[in-house]
Amino acid sequence: MRGRFITFEGGEGCGKSTQVKLLAAYLKEKGIEPLLTKEPGSTPEGQVLRQLLVTGDKDKFDAISECLLYYADRRCNLTKVVWPALEQGKWVISDRYADSTEAYQYYGYDKRVSHDILSGLYRIVAGDFKPDLTIILDIEPEVGMRRSFAKAETMAVKELRFESRQLEFHHNLRRGFLEIAAREPERCAVVNADADIETVHHKIVEIVQQRLEI
Ligand code: TMP
Repeated sequence: MRGRFITFEGGEGCGKSTQVKLLAAYLKEKGIEPLLTKEPGSTPEGQVLRQLLVTGDKDKFDAISECLLYYADRRCNLTKVVWPALEQGKWVISDRYADSTEAYQYYGYDKRVSHDILSGLYRIVAGDFKPDLTIILDIEPEVGMRRSFAKAETMAVKELRFESRQLEFHHNLRRGFLEIAAREPERCAVVNADADIETVHHKIVEIVQQRLEI
């Protein structure tokens, strides 16, 4: 039997990485050992793309170049990590997936790429494959950005290319994630990420139990 594919999405500083780890630990307790992956950068090639995408001048790519690079990384993640694991019956959790491209490169950039381009790229790269469940961690951009800048203090390479954008960009992408969730409620669940880590984790576990029948 094919495993399940869960994706985590959200704006800067929403706590995805922490929540991915907590959910993985919970699933392990239940006898399911999930494979953790992320976008961008789950493969050696993807790590090169990640460096290009998350560091440096905020205006070095236009929206379409950015979409192409994220989709190149996505194809590596799917073909080398996600699909082989699912075929072996494993569960896979991805820290970001295609909703991030729609939120950041479409809504964030105020619709400078069309939906047709985005859905065309999706079809080329992933066909009709979709996550079984997408958790969208929702947070006020002001709160998320504060967390994100604090985290960057501890990083050798500062991954702040998107954080350096105006607050308006972050409000747009937050709205984007909420619109995606409203459009696809059977796949997506929105969780308030401005609560303490344990509360957010319990909410996520509740959703996973209900939707994926653990
Ligand atoms: P991360 O810091 O959550 O690992 O994500 C890396 C950055 O890349 C983050 O600022 C969001 C951005 N991003 C996009 O703009 N589009 C995408 O499709 C993905 C996957 C990430």
